[in-house]
Amino acid sequence: MTESTKVLVTGGAGFIGSHLVNGLLDNGYSVAVVDDLSSGQLRNLDHRATFYHAPINDPRVNQIIQREGPEIIFHLAAQSSVRQSTLDPVADADSNVLGTIRLLSVAAAEGVDKIVFSSTGGAIYGNPDTIPCDEDTPVNPLTPYALSKYVSELYLELFNRTYGLQYTILRYANVYGPGQDPNGEAGVIAIFAGMMLRGRSPNIYGDGLQERDFVYVSDVVDANLAAAYRGDGRIYNIGTGEPVTINRIHSLLQECTEFHQEPVYRPRRAGEVLQIALDPGRAANELGWEPKVSLEEGLRRSVDYVREAAVRRSARARFGANR
Ligand SMILES: NC(=O)c1ccc[n+]([C@@H]2O[C@H](COP(=O)([O-])OP(=O)(O)OC[C@H]3O[C@@H](n4cnc5c(N)ncnc54)[C@H](O)[C@@H]3O)[C@@H](O)[C@H]2O)c1
Repeated sequence: MTESTKVLVTGGAGFIGSHLVNGLLDNGYSVAVVDDLSSGQLRNLDHRATFYHAPINDPRVNQIIQREGPEIIFHLAAQSSVRQSTLDPVADADSNVLGTIRLLSVAAAEGVDKIVFSSTGGAIYGNPDTIPCDEDTPVNPLTPYALSKYVSELYLELFNRTYGLQYTILRYANVYGPGQDPNGEAGVIAIFAGMMLRGRSPNIYGDGLQERDFVYVSDVVDANLAAAYRGDGRIYNIGTGEPVTINRIHSLLQECTEFHQEPVYRPRRAGEVLQIALDPGRAANELGWEPKVSLEEGLRRSVDYVREAAVRRSARARFGANR
């Protein structure tokens, strides 16, 4: 990498995007961000990045890409709530499918070298027969969100064949860590931690035996950095390979927060994946990537963040009240 490699991060004000922007800046990249702030927040964003407030399917994105001239686009902007996608599949497809197609069209026309795409391994395989599943497992999207990601993957392959636009697809497991929006794809940890710290029992939908693969956000940043110059035309699972039940997450968070009440069990939600874990072997072999942060350590850091954010909020409220 040359020191001044220019990159664009779509969705850079979001949970994962803001961590990625920091990682890129710290590694000497010159970073521009396009985000419509529909779920992201400007205060997440490092001031060293150049920020453009726009949806990715806005015609202004053409000028932004012309002006910035990025070599690589890390494409994270998306309607990222599975639940919201089932409530409004049209809005989901508008942002995730049409937004992606528009971005790829501009990228191909402006000579961008490569797209690193944030897809979902947590949702795209449905309920696979074998856990952990590898990238050759047939996809089985159970929600509009999962389908929108799969369709985007197919468009990436098509644009590569047709226009030579290079790409790497990263299929994340359930990503968690500091700064997470409780409404996102893997918001369960942020929701549980926030409620426990406020002394309230979280809801568990179903029996809590559903299994997920939780990968810490800094490991996901490392996967993106690794994919900048490797893994052309390839799909990688970015997970730990270790299934964890929601009940176990609940009890580990009880330890971190010293909250001892039982969860409230509610009926299972439609379209929910029951059991998923991603085999990260291909990413290890080809990208040299492996997850570094243990679940216990990642949960501790996440709880610390939620605790400190609550202190900051109440200090702001007190300061406001005293003015
Ligand atoms: N969090 C996870 O567990 C997880 C798992 C698999 C895949 N992903 C994918 O990773 C990416 C980042 O997820 P996240 O958890 O940080 O979500 P997030 O909602 O925090 O971030 C998405 C960002 O994109 C922006 N955005 C949304 N639609 C946009 C649009 N049309 N134009 C411009 N900006 C737009 C939002 O304002 C937000 O800043 C998403 O593509 C998501 O689908 C996340």
